[in-house]
Amino acid sequence: MSGEPDWPAFRALFPTLNDKTYLASGSYGLLARPVEAAFRQYLDDRLAKGADWGGWGAHTDAVRDGMAAILNAGADEIAITTSASAGINSLASALDFSGPRNKVVVSNFEFPTGAQIWHAQAARGAVVEHVAEAQDGSIPLEHFAAAIDETTRLVQITHVCYRNGHRLDVDGITRLAHERGAMVLLDCFQSVGALGVDVQAMGVDFAVGGMLKYLLGTAGIGFLYVDRRHIPGLTPTVGGWFAQADIDAMDIFANDPAPDARRFQAGTPPVVNSYAAEAGIALIREIGMPAIEARIRELTGEAMDGLTGAGCRLATPRDDARRGPQVAIRSTDAAALTARLAERGIVVSWRDGNVRAMFHAYNDAADIAALLDGLTANRELLA
Ligand SMILES: Cc1ncc(COP(=O)(O)O)c(C=O)c1O
Repeated sequence: MSGEPDWPAFRALFPTLNDKTYLASGSYGLLARPVEAAFRQYLDDRLAKGADWGGWGAHTDAVRDGMAAILNAGADEIAITTSASAGINSLASALDFSGPRNKVVVSNFEFPTGAQIWHAQAARGAVVEHVAEAQDGSIPLEHFAAAIDETTRLVQITHVCYRNGHRLDVDGITRLAHERGAMVLLDCFQSVGALGVDVQAMGVDFAVGGMLKYLLGTAGIGFLYVDRRHIPGLTPTVGGWFAQADIDAMDIFANDPAPDARRFQAGTPPVVNSYAAEAGIALIREIGMPAIEARIRELTGEAMDGLTGAGCRLATPRDDARRGPQVAIRSTDAAALTARLAERGIVVSWRDGNVRAMFHAYNDAADIAALLDGLTANRELLA
């Protein structure tokens, strides 16, 4: 798309915004009319054709191609999974922790799944070391430098923290990890679709996420990116027939993993969800990530300045380079404050003592004003 996108026209694609101030896109992105139409198309195809394995496969492949474009990866480097957790599990199953490189370094910004799965690998010899926050709530590079060493196999980092909106220094951490012979898994679930995620520029080895938040798809579908240089050396022990080199081989006498990242898949792909994810990704690509990122940066910046001016304490750093689409507001009772805002038609969510306002490009200045009014009207619940 050339020039400034028509943001009011984009906003009009999301009927929920007629009734709600929706600031929970990091929880679940809104349903756009074209995504609703894609769900209906699935039902029409189902009614018209019954079984349509070939047609369904085409939708999964379109999602794979779309994700490859968004991440600046090759389609051969993308597995389409049923969740981010499924992708991490498949990758974990392919890693060898029996030798001296058995450490997994995990930041304290991770979503639970991105730590729990590595702790589960203790049974296979993995040793997990956590990287904690500094006093100011950030995790500085030095903390990673102290944890990553010659025994480290993998570093699990989140791009934008789900609890407080902090963005990690992915480039710096990846450089450090590679210097020390470790690989990096980036969880970009809280950024992809809102911030540019270029896996080649970042140099990460793996990336994981899903399509229900900023990618405007639906729950029940995710992706795993695997740098193609690693694929031949990684054989998942979590798999199935859709992970085989030839899905139609139906060979029960051997496991013959696909030569590409499809080896990280398992069974029947999420068919219905592929229709929706394809439509959501198409919307994002039509507007373009640079315009979406700039719009969200502007909205969140305005919101942060307004909130700070109104006396709110923020858990998210103001520096654009150190944050993403989330603005986390400190509260004495975040659950109660979230409920009070809901009474006014303002949808936010809360974690870790923070009310989280999570913006997408469909938000506008009126949403910021409504949030400010709602928070100042409930000042006694602000920390
Ligand atoms: C950063 C992050 N990682 C992982 C997950 C979990 O994803 P899934 O439920 O697809 O496994 C979430 C879900 O909200 C998330 O925000």
